[in-house]
Formats: sequence, C-alpha cells, structure tokens
Amino acid sequence: MAIILKSPEQIEGIRKSSILAAQTLKYLEQFVKPGVKTIEIDKKAEEFIRDHGAIPATKGYKGYKHSTCISPNDVVCHGVPNEYELAWGDILNIDVTTILNGFYGDTCKMYTIGDISDYAQKLIDTTRECLHLGMQQCFPGNHLGNIGFHIARHAQSRGYSVVYEFCGHGVGVKFHEDPEVAHSANQNSGPILKPGMTFTIEPMINAGKARCKVDRKDGWTARTIDGKLSAQFEHTILITQTGFEALTDVYHDF
Ligand code: MF3
Ligand code: CO
Ligand code: CO
Repeated sequence: MAIILKSPEQIEGIRKSSILAAQTLKYLEQFVKPGVKTIEIDKKAEEFIRDHGAIPATKGYKGYKHSTCISPNDVVCHGVPNEYELAWGDILNIDVTTILNGFYGDTCKMYTIGDISDYAQKLIDTTRECLHLGMQQCFPGNHLGNIGFHIARHAQSRGYSVVYEFCGHGVGVKFHEDPEVAHSANQNSGPILKPGMTFTIEPMINAGKARCKVDRKDGWTARTIDGKLSAQFEHTILITQTGFEALTDVYHDF
C-alpha cells in the first residue's frame, strides 16, 4: 500500500465531509447531559449525518453497528454506544466519521458532564496540546514520525502515557489508508510529508498505564488496563505547499 496524494477535486470532497463531521460534533453538544444514554446520542448523530446527505462511516464497518464511537472515562476508543447513562463528573469522547459523496472526514473531541476533577481536566488539556504539537509538525519535507515524537514527549513530561495499540491513519478516499500515524515515534523516522497527503492525528493519552483491553462482550470497547482515565482529540489534516490545514477544525474549539 502507498500513500495517496489527493487531487484538488478530492481535497474539496474531503473538505466538505470534514466540515460535516465537525458540525456533527458541535450539534451533539446539546445532548451531552447527565442521565442521557450514549445510545441516544448515537441516534442523534445518525439522524444529523443522514439529514445532510451523508453516511456514518462506522455503520457496518468490520461489523460495527453504530454511527459513532462514544468513549466515557476509562474507555480509550471504539466505545460502543449503549444503555450507559452519563453522570455528573464524567468525561467522554465522541468520534464521528462521515462519508459525503464518497469522501471521508474523521474527527473526535472530549465532552464533560458538569464539574469534573482537576485531575480529569489536566488530562484533557494535555491531550489537546498533544494534538496541536503534532499538527505543528505537519509541513512538506518533515518526517511523519516527528508528529508522534513531539506528542509523546509532551504527554510523558506530564506523567501520562501514550496509547500505542491504536493509531492515526491516512483518510479521505477510504476510511483507513496509509500511512499509519503513530502517536509515539522516534525523531526523524517514517515517510516524508508531501502536499496532498490527508491523514488523521488522534492521540489517546492515558492517566495511568498505556495498555488497553478490548471488551470481550461487545468486541470493540477498548478500556485502560488499570481503569484510569483516557482522553483523545482528532483532526483530519491536509498537508499543503507551506504547512497544513486542519480540515475538521471548523469551530476552533479544540
Ligand atoms: N473513527 C475511528 C478512527 O478515528 C474509527 C472507528 S472504527 C469503528 O479511526 F469501527 F470502531 F467504528
Ligand atoms: Co481516525
Ligand atoms: Co475518528
């Protein structure tokens, strides 16, 4: 497999889909409240995406049945929406991938329920900073590995660990394309970034150990091995002639 360099027409399609994915995360804010079940949020997401002429990319993907991944507290990623009721003090991630006119946009962010602990807030803040440090490494001629190098250096400086079992990925004309974007990597490793590349950066940062375990019942929900909190933010990134554009950064709220 090779890294696909997108044409201007493909970039326009990916941009439109990325905007819709970002709009979906914004739309869902009003439903993220104590007592709401994550399955109810998933239904709202599916309606919104379909009302805008798009398809939720996760639905039917490798047997996954839902339109979002919703990952509260110790869930690292791929949280299956279910009967869990959000409670005061929870943190959660919602991850949306849209297919609009055949093009993919992929983004996720953290939400909070009521007042959260300083401990949780610091993890969320550091994870957002990790995404932005990764984005700053996105310019033509740089090594892809410098994204993960800078993410891991920052997370570890705060005493956190970086999830290595799930990565960012090329995205745009398929859901998961080359390259794999590791969130921990050696300096100046990996392929050279070129204009027209589109991929995600989606660091998952754990308060405790890096290791994850996948729920044996649903086959998807990945939790921290030690039950400690995890946070994640994700943007779809385009490499331009001079740097990058975050195609899902529509609201500048993370
Ligand atoms: N949107 C996730 C990502 O960022 C992938 C979810 S795949 C699923 O790559 F099948 F778990 F939904
Ligand atoms: Co992704
Ligand atoms: Co995603």
